[in-house]
Amino acid sequence: MPSSNIQLDDMGRLRHFLGIEGLSQAILTEILDTAESFTSVADRTIKKVPILRGITVANLFFEASTRTRSTFELAEQRLSADILSLNLSTSATVKGESLLDTLQNLEAMQIDMFVIRHQDSGSAHFFAQHVRPGVAVLNAGDGQHEHPTQAMLDMYTIRHYKQDFDALRVAIVGDILHSRVARSQIHALNLLNTGEIRVIAPRTLMPVEAESLGVKVYEDLELGLRDVDVVIMLRLQKERMQGALLPSEKEYFRKFGLSQERLRLAKPDAIVMHPGPANRGVEIESGVMDGKQSVILQQVSFGISVRMAVMSMIASQSGLQSGGES
Ligand code: NCD
Repeated sequence: MPSSNIQLDDMGRLRHFLGIEGLSQAILTEILDTAESFTSVADRTIKKVPILRGITVANLFFEASTRTRSTFELAEQRLSADILSLNLSTSATVKGESLLDTLQNLEAMQIDMFVIRHQDSGSAHFFAQHVRPGVAVLNAGDGQHEHPTQAMLDMYTIRHYKQDFDALRVAIVGDILHSRVARSQIHALNLLNTGEIRVIAPRTLMPVEAESLGVKVYEDLELGLRDVDVVIMLRLQKERMQGALLPSEKEYFRKFGLSQERLRLAKPDAIVMHPGPANRGVEIESGVMDGKQSVILQQVSFGISVRMAVMSMIASQSGLQSGGES
């Protein structure tokens, strides 16, 4: 596993944003506080601040994305960046170009910041190791490894509704094994000193090393949901499953689906989260998704300010901000 220190400069400030692992509580809190200061930008008539003026950001999506890609683009627009968005699953890489060649060709276009989503774990680190000094890389999801901006928008959502992490019981339910979101969330929840982190999944979808991540492992949803403050549901990532890890979707819902009835086992004011895309009737009942306790759409909105926060912190560290030299 590549060292995560590559994402920090000598003074411990963010240079790249590749994963939550290896970061400090102070940096995570700074991201959350900075994001809070950006929420008001969305309420302005002109939803823009000049923080990334003159900076070119390339969004490189080698894998499909709806929420992550659009909220990154909106965040960049609201920071006044120049934006290049490429859907690389249908582009040069399909014609056999290597990741390094793609990177070098894009660098020849004077890109200052790369946002990359790729099916291979470690791809964002690879990019960060090969870009020119001063060029930043943000990980928008690499294989089964990490999805740090998603985890930070989830932490933002939790803090928004529940304030102190110390007193909270948080349950992450579903396909933990294939989930980069769950990995990043577990690192972030640990760094923020969350009272108790539970992971709930069938044995076939639980990583073998789960307990070493500082979580309580449950194979029974009803036991795991008792008295939790936050329930995070995950999609079954079938595209990453090799072989039959599950009997059927119907059977999965019967054992691990979040129904209204099961949600009553959690605290009465528990919030329900999901990074999306959600499959109604598979991991979550439709009524729960649209119900009073669901904050799933709020997560999407918070994603814009959180991504603005991370990009502005990196830009101020590297001197990119407002026409600085790159
Ligand atoms: C997640 C992802 O792509 O890792 N979605 C997202 O970014 N909002 C989770 C998933 O695909 O299930």
